[in-house]
Amino acid sequence: MIDLHSHILPGLDDGAADMDATIAMARRAAAEGITVIAATPHVNSEYDPAPERIAELVDETNRALGEEDVALRVEAGAEVAITRAAEMQAQQLRRLSLGGNGWVLLESPYQHAVPFVEDAVFALQLAGSRILLAHPERAPAFQRSPERLEALVERGVACAVNATSLSGAGGSSARDLGLRLVHARLAHVICSDSHDDARRPPALEPGIAAAELSPEETDWFTEGAPAAVLAGTDLPPRPVPLPQPPRRGLFRRR
Ligand SMILES: [Fe+2]
Repeated sequence: MIDLHSHILPGLDDGAADMDATIAMARRAAAEGITVIAATPHVNSEYDPAPERIAELVDETNRALGEEDVALRVEAGAEVAITRAAEMQAQQLRRLSLGGNGWVLLESPYQHAVPFVEDAVFALQLAGSRILLAHPERAPAFQRSPERLEALVERGVACAVNATSLSGAGGSSARDLGLRLVHARLAHVICSDSHDDARRPPALEPGIAAAELSPEETDWFTEGAPAAVLAGTDLPPRPVPLPQPPRRGLFRRR
């Protein structure tokens, strides 16, 4: 499985504090069946790692994981606050995108009134970014007005729902909107948003189980769609659920 949202790099933000913590997270991720994880440190008013520093730490981490025999590959990325993204040149933002290929993991705002989101997102799209919205189900503004998310998705935005939201660990409002987004085909990937190896670990399974996804849908959410994001391409079509079996027998006699 591919996890596109984690704070696994050492010492950059409120995630892993050092390389030991990074390796502990990586071991847990591998044990959870994750083979590729995007390192998405916060880029906001509090943390501001340079893309070069992120790239360096990704290389360092991959080397350490090789030495420790942990079967996990780390890809570069960032979780960029909308206000920071709006200030950046397109080139600068691209260097923070997932895998460096143009999809930007944009942090959903936590404030209640966020009239600026749509304009900011469309400006970023016009400048050439593709937008993957991080945990929109946790945003009070979207909980109150989910139709805003529907309009954003219609304009090409993809949504990354946290596994912990689906399993209820983030409270009932996030769970309810998260599940609605998954079932209304408004969510596109399921991520861990992991910060450590125990309390907020890299694990997708609890979210997949809570959403009762079929194996084909699980594959799309955790392999097909996130692989396309890392490659910087359009997402593959989501599998259509199998038709319900007919209510009466096919060979019913008249
Ligand atoms: Fe995050």
